[in-house]
Amino acid sequence: MSRGRALPGGFLIGCATAAHQVEGGIDNDWSRWVAADPSVVKDGSDATLAIDHFRRFRADLADLGVMGHSAHRFSIEWARVEPQPGVFDPEALRHYRGVVTACRAAGMEPYVTLQHFTLPVWLAERGGLTAPETPWLFARYAGACAEALGDAVRFWLTINEPAVLAAMGHLLGNWPPRQASPASFLGALRGLLLMHAAGSTAIHTVAAGHGWDAAVSLAHHERPLLPATGHLIDRAAAALPNWLFNRWFLEACVSGRVLPPVGAGELVPGLSGSLDYLGVNNYAHDSVHFDPRARRTLFARIDADPSLPHSSFGWAIDAQGFRKVLVDLWQRYRLPIHVSENGVADTDDELRPRFIIDHLNALLDAVDEGCDIRAYLHWTAWDNFEWDQGYTQHFGLIAVDRDTMQRTPKPSAELYARICRTGVVPRDV
Ligand code: FCB
Repeated sequence: MSRGRALPGGFLIGCATAAHQVEGGIDNDWSRWVAADPSVVKDGSDATLAIDHFRRFRADLADLGVMGHSAHRFSIEWARVEPQPGVFDPEALRHYRGVVTACRAAGMEPYVTLQHFTLPVWLAERGGLTAPETPWLFARYAGACAEALGDAVRFWLTINEPAVLAAMGHLLGNWPPRQASPASFLGALRGLLLMHAAGSTAIHTVAAGHGWDAAVSLAHHERPLLPATGHLIDRAAAALPNWLFNRWFLEACVSGRVLPPVGAGELVPGLSGSLDYLGVNNYAHDSVHFDPRARRTLFARIDADPSLPHSSFGWAIDAQGFRKVLVDLWQRYRLPIHVSENGVADTDDELRPRFIIDHLNALLDAVDEGCDIRAYLHWTAWDNFEWDQGYTQHFGLIAVDRDTMQRTPKPSAELYARICRTGVVPRDV
């Protein structure tokens, strides 16, 4: 049997998580929304306790260190750190300082996300993503986090998946604030862009003031929307959603302007220098047919590619698609790529071992093609609260018993640990 393929020198490998999905004990726009109407979550569950990671983080992170992980991505919960506007909670900041310290003690480079889908209630009540003062408020919060943690954190992500948040909360109406109109969607994209620019500027300013090293990005979700056939009408139906969902935000960051159809090309201070690297989340691509009934999605009917195997969530599984995404993003933007999420929903851990091996081989193929890829963060370490899917989707390497909170590594966790420890990716399962 061949030995496998070595990851590049200095490559960082580990897992990604998000506060609301794992911590428990959070009062934010999501917890209020679910409490008001439990039917918005598939299994009627909530994240009141989640997987109790807020209290168990030391043992949890030590476990990942033992598994050989060299990096870990987590998010800071804005609602904890700033429970009232302008009032920062030193205890909460100390908690996240403890998380960073625990990552480092376990041999893991921390990646810190500042906003992963949730907002403090006071901000949601003021209009959330589209309120005019939100970018400035986000910058103040980002600055406070950078002051508290910047000596020990190098990699920052301002916002997780702006296009997903705008689409789910403002176009499809499946997440708070449950709006469903193209105007609201475009407004949310604009707000998130201004937040990202302001947040990135704040982190850079704080770091420069102290002489600290800070690399800032966002977690961009790339989910190619490909025409299902070669017919002109399907190609046309895919083009605008694909531009808005996959290209608009990054093109705006690179140009430094609010591009059409959201704006008229106005310059945004701090935007053009806002990305030091590119955080890429990728799970799948989708197929698009023209459908006159699909008005909400601009006449695009979006389905999982029927020619591929699907995860238990129904998403297509396609390692070659992952390679293409990496190559395409590298060629377009020439920014070092850190894969900030990639994984598979898999109830019985049957698909995940092959998924991990195939996707890491695809990543190495992209490296062989000349892409500068420096990190891979698997989604995710522990089965957790998967937003409107509740606890029905299992993305974790480690199972969590919801009654006892006991953690049990799955076979894929052992496989991943072997790859992390040796830096070698088997060619096959
Ligand atoms: C991503 C989200 C993450 C998780 C995975 C499955 O879009 O960033 O929180 O829900 O999907």
